[in-house]
Amino acid sequence: WILMVTTRAPTNIAVIKYWGKRDEKLILPINDSISVTLDLNHLSATTTVAVSPSFEEDRMWLNGKEIPLSGGRYQNCLREIRSRAGDFKDEKRGIHIKKEDWCKLHFHIASYNNFPTAAGLASSAAGFACLVFSLAKLMNVNDDLSQLSAIARQGSGSACRSLYGGFVKWAMGNDLNGSDSVAIQLARETHWSDLVIIIAVVSSRQKETSSTTGMRESVETSTLLQHRAQVLVPGRILQMEDAIRNRDFSSFARLTCVDSNQFHAICLDTNPPIFYMNDTSHKLINLVERWNRHEGTPQVAYTFDAGPNAVMIAKDQKAATHLLQRLLFYFPPPPENEMSSYVLGDKTI
Ligand code: DP6
Repeated sequence: WILMVTTRAPTNIAVIKYWGKRDEKLILPINDSISVTLDLNHLSATTTVAVSPSFEEDRMWLNGKEIPLSGGRYQNCLREIRSRAGDFKDEKRGIHIKKEDWCKLHFHIASYNNFPTAAGLASSAAGFACLVFSLAKLMNVNDDLSQLSAIARQGSGSACRSLYGGFVKWAMGNDLNGSDSVAIQLARETHWSDLVIIIAVVSSRQKETSSTTGMRESVETSTLLQHRAQVLVPGRILQMEDAIRNRDFSSFARLTCVDSNQFHAICLDTNPPIFYMNDTSHKLINLVERWNRHEGTPQVAYTFDAGPNAVMIAKDQKAATHLLQRLLFYFPPPPENEMSSYVLGDKTI
């Protein structure tokens, strides 16, 4: 026999960034972070997990290519889920797995991303959230989403926020074992449905410094990072929670842009410095800043993760339409390309 579960998880975009760990193994952060989860139809991961007595080892395929499961992160997630497994019974097929027997079985895992892997679009967030959720369904795990988020966190920090839709906070927690370093939903996906997210893919090339390496180097060498994590972010988190609660776009946009720019300033303050944004990213920032200033009140927020691609959050559909017109004006696409897959490249504004 074979049992299979398939689930889909969206990616999330941090508006107050996670950057720096206090525990590398358990993936415990040095500050709280807040994100917005994209809707499921766009940037998401789809993961099928299968279990059968005929499988001799755990194996995984990512976008059709087998990848080693030896990495500690996958093993940590598998171990945690196995330890919480429940009994499984399918009378019709005569399958009965006792909870203690799951550790004798092996899994085959196939995961697909529908967006450029490792181009700074947090594909690992969707990937690990989806993996953990699929495994939990397969093994009848009874934990709630916040407990599952603590497992996804051990795959990739930002993954814990993808278990929920809407606006999500990852509370850094205090416990040494990480039990309170979990994601909680701040607002449902319907709370602020005017917002429109536009992602400008500046480059689909793999980033040079992974988030994991980059934040380790920042923790070791940036003198600004502790000040950011301990003094600046805690206040900003409270303000961002208020802005989201009140659907206050001006504050939301200001905090989002300031936090993104500060995260990249930390990257510059790292030794050797890390450059995630490129000239096109800087031009996009200028475009939005100038437009917001011209309007007198923010129409669009921008934020950049560990890569040059811009995530722009427009106030409403009207602002999104204007933004797209501006982008198309400054970065005219070749006619044969579709906008959805159009890479901006290094053009000048
Ligand atoms: C800039 O979650 O990818 O996107 O925990 O080492 O897997 P690991 O790092 P990861 O880092 C994400 C960093 C970020 C900011 C954020 O998503 O909060």
